[in-house]
Amino acid sequence: MNSESIDYLSGKGYISCGNTDPMKKKQVYVETYGCQMNAADSEVVLSIMNDNGFGITQSPVDADVIFVNTCSVRDNAEQRVRQRISTLKNYKRNNPGVLIGVLGCMAERLRTELIDKSNVVDMVVGPDEYRKLPELVEDAFNGQRGIAVKLSRIENYDDIMPLRMEGVTAWISVMRGCDKFCTFCVVPFTRGRERSRSLRSIVQEVERLSARGFKEITLLGQNVNSYHDGEFDFADLIRRVSEVDRTIRIRFMTPHPQDMSENLIRAIAENDNACNSIHLPIQSGSNRILQLMNRTYTVEEYFSLVKKIRDAIPGATLSTDIIAGFPTETEDDHRQTLDVIRTVGFDGAFTFKYSPREHTKAWEMNDDVPEGVKADRLNEIIELQQNISLKKNQTLVGSTVEILVERESTKSNDEWMGRTDTNKVTVFPKDNSHIGDLVAITIDRCNSATLFGAIAKEPNTMNDYRIAVNS
Ligand code: 5AD
Ligand code: SF4
Repeated sequence: MNSESIDYLSGKGYISCGNTDPMKKKQVYVETYGCQMNAADSEVVLSIMNDNGFGITQSPVDADVIFVNTCSVRDNAEQRVRQRISTLKNYKRNNPGVLIGVLGCMAERLRTELIDKSNVVDMVVGPDEYRKLPELVEDAFNGQRGIAVKLSRIENYDDIMPLRMEGVTAWISVMRGCDKFCTFCVVPFTRGRERSRSLRSIVQEVERLSARGFKEITLLGQNVNSYHDGEFDFADLIRRVSEVDRTIRIRFMTPHPQDMSENLIRAIAENDNACNSIHLPIQSGSNRILQLMNRTYTVEEYFSLVKKIRDAIPGATLSTDIIAGFPTETEDDHRQTLDVIRTVGFDGAFTFKYSPREHTKAWEMNDDVPEGVKADRLNEIIELQQNISLKKNQTLVGSTVEILVERESTKSNDEWMGRTDTNKVTVFPKDNSHIGDLVAITIDRCNSATLFGAIAKEPNTMNDYRIAVNS
């Protein structure tokens, strides 16, 4: 990306849609649903469009082209997008010159259905075909609707510098696709086989982000720790990326337990700025269900991994993903999941009701856990996890923690929101601190999701804190 292009982000001067001046750049707006990979992909899309002479706007009413970057991971994610497309149908009725493109996983999964049924969508473009977007948009302006949904074994957009807003935190997609084929998951079908970017280009991207003042970088991949560029693996990548700028925090998402090697754990432990929080999806606490899910590990193996992580990285926090109501899940399987949550003591969890996805192995199994039972199990998991998260957070009340200031809190203009290096969300009065600062915050209260505090009183607290965490 070239930073000059950010000038176009405001879309200044456009108050109504439809670009009638032929000299003016056509404006593109992207809205993103789903995971961070999609958010990172949207930045790639913006970069491609910008490099091909389109302007970028942050407001749909200013746009000549609206892209909806979609998610298919669960049915409710798709329903949200369908609703959005029907709203856009009304919008397009009043603004017939505006083009609508559906991008991402739903485009890949539903293909022609989106164009045939909706009568509003002008192009459908899967995650490996974004280079074709400028051409497809030109065609669509000439009345020709287009579909590009081929999956690629090599496309990784390695040479495209994503178009990012200025900020503190950035995402870098380091690998694409997934070869794991968990039986519930549609990702291998919508995003194709695994492929990794070169370590060299990722390091270059980190260097540029460092020069622009970013303070936290999250390395992204559907299966991030199976990264391998032919020469270097994910442990190598963590080591190289961490040393570019020691003041930048390095995070990653989402690893698979199977690829969590001892060398990788050592790489995280060795580098202070490689953040001490690991999101490690377990999905279920029942070995029988894990096997049906094709997760390739047992609960016992997961426990031993947790021990290795905690031994190597004292104070590391752990979060996870859990699915309630996978086919054939019994009350006993569910109890085992609750037991595992208690035993590990996760700091947080993303929890989902099982949602059958076409093409997957589990789709062919009978979705036999009734909706109400799934909901009850999910609620039980959430309640248990909230209690554990609260207890974990309470142990921090009275202590001083180092926070990277990210943005204004959603509840008050006088407060910042930031995170600890262990990924705990923290809210505190601004008190002359700025976005991007690292501040020492003394925690005075908490709930299960958030720590609350104030800038530490003693001037040396931060040093003391640093000394404490480094010793
Ligand atoms: N139903 C419910 N949850 C799912 N996930 C993936 N596929 C499904 C599905 N079919 C969850 C998993 C994964 C997270 C990103 O989404 O927990 O780790
Ligand atoms: Fe889906 Fe499993 Fe791949 Fe994650 S590891 S993207 S859950 S198939």
